Amino acid sequence: MPIDYRIDAAKYYDLCYHRVDDIPFYEQRVPESSARVLELGCGTGRVLVPLAARCGFIQGIDCSEAMLTLCREKLRAAGIPASRAAVAMGDIADFDLGRTFDLIIAPYRVMQNLATDAEVDGFLNGIASHLAPGGTAILNVFKPNAVPATLLARSSPEEVFERDILVEGGYLRCSYRTPRVTRTPLVLYPELIYRRYAGDQLVDEAVLSIAMRCYYPDEFLALIEGHGFRVLEKWGGYAGEAYGEGGELVVAFTKEAAR
Ligand SMILES: C[S@@+](CC[C@H](N)C(=O)[O-])C[C@H]1O[C@@H](n2cnc3c(N)ncnc32)[C@H](O)[C@@H]1O
Repeated sequence: MPIDYRIDAAKYYDLCYHRVDDIPFYEQRVPESSARVLELGCGTGRVLVPLAARCGFIQGIDCSEAMLTLCREKLRAAGIPASRAAVAMGDIADFDLGRTFDLIIAPYRVMQNLATDAEVDGFLNGIASHLAPGGTAILNVFKPNAVPATLLARSSPEEVFERDILVEGGYLRCSYRTPRVTRTPLVLYPELIYRRYAGDQLVDEAVLSIAMRCYYPDEFLALIEGHGFRVLEKWGGYAGEAYGEGGELVVAFTKEAAR
C-alpha cells in the first residue's frame, strides 16, 4: 500500500480550498444526462459530488484513501447510489480501468502534482486510452505569474501566511512555504501547513508536501497536442477570461481522429 501523504491534511482540504467558481463550468460541460464521466484526482469530491447529479455515471480515482473516505461520506450524505458514482484508489499516472468515458476531467490543477515526464506521459496516455470516440477531456493548471528565474529566486524556507478560517471552537490557520524549486522541469515543491487553534491554543498541525509542475500557456498547448490530441477550446479562467490572460489555463481537447 503506498503512503498516503494526505492522511493528516485531508480533513482540512474542503475548509481551505473551498473554491466553487469552477463547479458550474464543469457541470455545463457534461454532454448529456447519460454521459459517463471520469475524474482523475477526485479528492474529497468537491467537483465529483455535484457532477454525479448531472451525468449517468461518474468514476473518480485518487491515490489518497483519506481524501476518498471524505468523498464517499459526501456521496452517501447526498443520497447518490453506487450505480451513479464510484471512487477508487489509483495512480492517475498509470491507470487502466478497462472502459471509456465521454468526459474526462482533472479539476483544480491535479496534473501539476505529476513532477516527472514519465508521470505526465502516463497521465496523458491514460486519458487517450480512456476517452470514448468523440469524447472530450478538460485539464487545468495555473498560469505561472513570473518567468522561471523569478520562480526559482522566490524559493524560500520562510512561511507565508495565507488565511485564517473560523472553525467550530476556534480557527484554522493556512500557510505555506516553498523551500525547493527545480528548473528542468520547472517544479515548485510547496509545503502546505495547517494549524488548528482552539482559542489561542494550538491543537493540531499538519504539513502536506506536494509537487506543482509549472506550464506556460504555449507550452501547455504543445504538450497536449504533442500527445495526439486536438484542442477544442481554451480559457484563462472560469469567468470567461481569454487563454493566457487569467490566472488559470483550462484546455478542452479530443483525440485526433486516426488517419
Ligand atoms: C488539489 S487536489 C484536487 C481534488 C479535486 N479534483 C478538486 O477539484 O477538489 C489534488 C488531488 O489529486 C490527487 N493526486 C495527486 N497525484 C495523484 C496521483 N499520482 N494519482 C492519483 N491521485 C493523485 C491528490 O491525492 C488530491 O486528492
